[in-house]
Amino acid sequence: MKSITFAVSKGGVGKSLITANVGAALAKKGKKVVLVEGDPNQPLQKILGLNFSSKNLKFEDIVQKDMEINRAVYNTDIDNLFLIPSGVSLQSYFEIDPVSFARKLSSLKTDFMLIDVPFPLGKAAFLSLGVCEYFIPILTEDEFVLCVESAIDTIRLGKYFLKSTPLGFILNRIKTPKKFTEEFVKDLEDLLEIPCITKIKEDLKVSKSYGEVGSKKAFLAYNKLRKSEFAEKIDGIATWLLTKIPKAEKKDAVKLLQEITKPSKL
Ligand SMILES: Nc1ncnc2c1ncn2[C@@H]1O[C@H](COP(=O)(O)OP(=O)(O)OP(=O)(O)O)[C@@H](O)[C@H]1O
Ligand SMILES: [Mg+2]
Repeated sequence: MKSITFAVSKGGVGKSLITANVGAALAKKGKKVVLVEGDPNQPLQKILGLNFSSKNLKFEDIVQKDMEINRAVYNTDIDNLFLIPSGVSLQSYFEIDPVSFARKLSSLKTDFMLIDVPFPLGKAAFLSLGVCEYFIPILTEDEFVLCVESAIDTIRLGKYFLKSTPLGFILNRIKTPKKFTEEFVKDLEDLLEIPCITKIKEDLKVSKSYGEVGSKKAFLAYNKLRKSEFAEKIDGIATWLLTKIPKAEKKDAVKLLQEITKPSKL
């Protein structure tokens, strides 16, 4: 299983949108993909148009009652794409049990697991980066300096503390493509010490993914806007993940979480 989180300590950059769409693209290419909803606002459920009742088991039930994880893995409308819903924020698993969180997710049998993280990242970073072998920061043109600072912080935390490998970064919501010249991107690659996976333009149709004003209809842009440049870029990210991921040492997420959460001797 390859576990990835599109994490960065900056809100509104497109983490949830890219998680859902890349998941769908990987599934379309024949891989089994499980998405993990880590945000209590349930953006993945909204985009995928899924509704769960209180009777449906959620991830927190599995962790609290020590149940088999597959009982909270649900089909979506897309073949090969599954979702683990959650009604609480990732931070709440610190009250539930972070080690069980890691243990349950590590027991999943799938090709790809993608965890969506809420903003602010905070403690959620410890769980998402602690559990995932890989992560991909996303930066936007708006508040670019803040995005770069967030990416540097997240890369430092992930790489050196939580043993998660930063694969590359995505530039999303680009409004002025001419600003992002090859030279500019190269400098950014040198600064962050990871490659730029792709640049995605701001697309008004895509921004309605969570539902247009006055209507509650959310949609998966990768499917609905099949011929768009956005869908093409999402496809490119999926291909990149299938062909470019370096071999990483197998990560023992449970052990790592045990170490991190063990009470300090001081
Ligand atoms: N390429 C894009 N073109 C247009 N709009 C986009 C694009 N990417 C993301 N958006 C829009 O940006 C907003 C934020 O996206 P999203 O919720 O996925 O970000 P996020 O990083 O998950 O946010 P949060 O930190 O709140 O979880 C949404 O309204 C989404 O539709
Ligand atoms: Mg989000």
